Amino acid sequence: MFGRSRPVLPTNLEEFRRARNRRDPGASQTASSPVEFESLIIDVTEHISLNEDRSRSVYRASTVVVGLGQSQEEAGSLRPFDVVLKVGYHKAQHRYIKREAEIYEKYFCTPEIKGQHVPNYLGLFLGDTYEGITTVLVLQDSAFPLNYPLEHYSLDFRLDVINALAAVHKAGVTLPDFYEGNVVVKKWPGQTHYVPMIVDFACACPHTCELELKEDEDVVPEPYIPEPSTDVFPCSDMGDACKRAQLWLPRGYWFGTTVPLHDAIDPDKLLTHPCPEPSLRGNRGLRGRAIAEANRLREWLRNRRKWDAEPPAPLDFDD
Ligand SMILES: Nc1ncnc2c1ncn2[C@@H]1O[C@H](COP(=O)(O)OP(=O)(O)OP(=O)(O)O)[C@@H](O)[C@H]1O
Ligand SMILES: [Mg+2]
Repeated sequence: MFGRSRPVLPTNLEEFRRARNRRDPGASQTASSPVEFESLIIDVTEHISLNEDRSRSVYRASTVVVGLGQSQEEAGSLRPFDVVLKVGYHKAQHRYIKREAEIYEKYFCTPEIKGQHVPNYLGLFLGDTYEGITTVLVLQDSAFPLNYPLEHYSLDFRLDVINALAAVHKAGVTLPDFYEGNVVVKKWPGQTHYVPMIVDFACACPHTCELELKEDEDVVPEPYIPEPSTDVFPCSDMGDACKRAQLWLPRGYWFGTTVPLHDAIDPDKLLTHPCPEPSLRGNRGLRGRAIAEANRLREWLRNRRKWDAEPPAPLDFDD
């Protein structure tokens, strides 16, 4: 198991208790923190990711909460629950991870969002290891990442992802570079519905969403309409996410101007649109350019039909 080469996580009760007692004062437990505990027993089960300079790792771990007055033996009979640990070394990673913890503490503390659209936040811990200052963000394990780019999935699932992201916006946070790496998915045993959750808020920003995100109202009420203008859909981060999820039909482009899709997929029709560069008018290269744009859009539509006809399941195993 990973961890042998970097045995920095507190893996026994005493060590964890010591780490807990050195909790970062700047990340004090708030009323929003969902779990009050005396100690945790943690068994690391999977190494999920490692950043480029090996200063930050994400682990999956099995955890048993030990209540006040309980012995480790008593705890052994308790049902474990899974957590995800984001572990960072040194001051730069401490600042990075602490920022994410602050987002969870400040913005994701209501029952409308925590555990529904983002994982439950269980705390931020600070300790000294032979790597130096070590910071651990503990989150509820919200299941598994997507195996394919977002656009490959069914329309229903992509809409659920966008609505989960909208809940994050409504809570006052935006993820400017949202992509499928920010999505994990779970399925409750015995249910058929896949539930997406949004993760990784280290680069998130406080945000007042320009979209009116009303309770129980879908952000995209009608999918596969032409991409709306910013007057109609004013939040550019949500707009980029909707485009990434291919919820709107793409725009055709002709020399920097937008052209309706039904014209842009036909090179002859595209050529009837004015060419703003006089030197290119009547030029044979112009037709090649129209064909290339039409082909780009036709390929988009071809792929869209293919993925909609046979979307992959968001999880490739059943609980
Ligand atoms: N609460 C969670 N439940 C389940 N899986 C999670 C959770 N949080 C993170 N993950 C998984 O771990 C991966 C890495 O997490 P995250 O992006 O937050 O860390 P990171 O250090 O930024 O990693 P990377 O550099 O790979 O993006 C996520 O893409 C996701 O698959
Ligand atoms: Mg990440």
